[in-house]
Amino acid sequence: MAKQKIIIAIDGYSACGKSTLAKALAKKLNYHFIDSGAMYRAITLYFLREGVSLGDEQAIGQALDHVKLSFENNQRTGDSEILLNGENVARAIRDMLVAEKVSEVAAIKAVRQAAVAQQQLMGKRRGIVMDGRDIGTVVFPDAELKIFMTADPAIRVKRRFEEQYEKDPAITIEEIKANLELRDYIDSNREESPLRKAKDAIVLDNSSLTRAEQLDKVLAWVKELQQPATA
Ligand code: CDP
Repeated sequence: MAKQKIIIAIDGYSACGKSTLAKALAKKLNYHFIDSGAMYRAITLYFLREGVSLGDEQAIGQALDHVKLSFENNQRTGDSEILLNGENVARAIRDMLVAEKVSEVAAIKAVRQAAVAQQQLMGKRRGIVMDGRDIGTVVFPDAELKIFMTADPAIRVKRRFEEQYEKDPAITIEEIKANLELRDYIDSNREESPLRKAKDAIVLDNSSLTRAEQLDKVLAWVKELQQPATA
């Protein structure tokens, strides 16, 4: 009998390795991986390009009407990449200019409503792994498996610095640290669906786990969930 497809929600602070785990899980389980942060980053990129003022509700509403987000599979790497109005912006959304503004944009109610509605639609087919900040609390409160990821802040800064340095050798570790701290602060303290651990989420601290170890741990949880209940 085919195993029942579930929804896996992964939330947590910036640069905890959520996407890395989500991607690996989706590959192993043959599920769809959806990076909800990429959606907020793509909306931010659009606002920056169009010079949308974040205090202007009407301009924000109009801009959101013009944003169409979709995902496509990169044939070479197998990665799911985001398209903004048909343009692949997977690389552009990782720019520091986007990272500096994204948490402000993601705190706007209209932005969240638009993104969450699309995320919930994508969840209808089940068999998905979605990572973000409010997936287990707001987007899929009924997800079968909820994980709240944490990692030592110094490790997160180091990991993100190494990633970003490859794209931009002018970046400094201080800039990365300040950006992660600012985003975590805004994400945790905003009024609209702040970053919180869902009551029924399992905490996964990956500070001293390798990628393979964390994947094995979570796969064991999935297996347990899919085990038929014994009387
Ligand atoms: O990869 P990283 O952890 O740096 O962040 P991300 O997942 O790309 O998310 C970028 C930003 O989008 C976060 O700092 C949040 O402000 C926002 N976000 C959110 O508000 N809700 C989500 N479900 C996902 C991301």
